[in-house]
Amino acid sequence: MKMNINPFLLPNGVTIALQFLKDKLDKLKSIPLVIAIDGHASSGKSTLATDLGEILKLKYLDSGAMYRAVTLYFLEQNIDFNDNHAIECALKNISIDLEYESNKKSTYLNGVNVERQIRGMDVSNNVSKIARISSVRKFLVHQLRILGKSKGVIMDGRDIGSVVFPNAEIKFYVTASMDERANRRFAELQSKNIEASPETVRQNLEERDKIDSSREDSPLIMAQDAMILDTTFLNRSEQLQSALKLIFNKLGI
Ligand code: DC
Repeated sequence: MKMNINPFLLPNGVTIALQFLKDKLDKLKSIPLVIAIDGHASSGKSTLATDLGEILKLKYLDSGAMYRAVTLYFLEQNIDFNDNHAIECALKNISIDLEYESNKKSTYLNGVNVERQIRGMDVSNNVSKIARISSVRKFLVHQLRILGKSKGVIMDGRDIGSVVFPNAEIKFYVTASMDERANRRFAELQSKNIEASPETVRQNLEERDKIDSSREDSPLIMAQDAMILDTTFLNRSEQLQSALKLIFNKLGI
């Protein structure tokens, strides 16, 4: 018997058989949602957030890009990471905007698109040191909450389900093996022609895991009501379908 499944092609190139999910998706789209996705670097968070955002028509906000933009500013302005006064003053001069259009992320720091610079190893090697500073976190958490106030957003990061939006309707904790994460990050940097060796990429992930999970202020933890998604052996479509199934179950759809 031939099944009546029409593959939908998402703008980002992901094909997924969705016809049989149409009713469930329509129901889901009618619910005002905040979806929080937390997890380690390169675990698949941003891919999942992109694809779910596309399907559910939610605004995608990459909170890590904001921490990266602050880091870039501090590096450019030679701000001493240990000088609290200099940090507080610098934060007053920072304005960050996130845009996501036609499958392309852009991060604006004081009106300049810095998307490429914030993905480089210089920023990657320093961002966790900046992200553990309480005044930086306070500054960005405030902005992220404003962005998510009217619902209809999907946000990824480290503390979204635990601190930024503890009442989010849906929370994911995304994980994958270190080997898989290092391969993914290296491939991503190569595709963007950003220089890095496989060894430095892995070292950077290990170092950031350590700092992000052990810092005093809002470390990466799994929120109590988060759903775990291990993406080690999942391709992009499988990851998306697993997440949708978990969401339907959670909301009783
Ligand atoms: O998601 P990412 O790898 O681009 O994030 C970069 C860094 O920013 C990450 O190592 C920790 C920090 N971060 C954070 O502390 N809290 C968030 N909500 C998002 C990112």
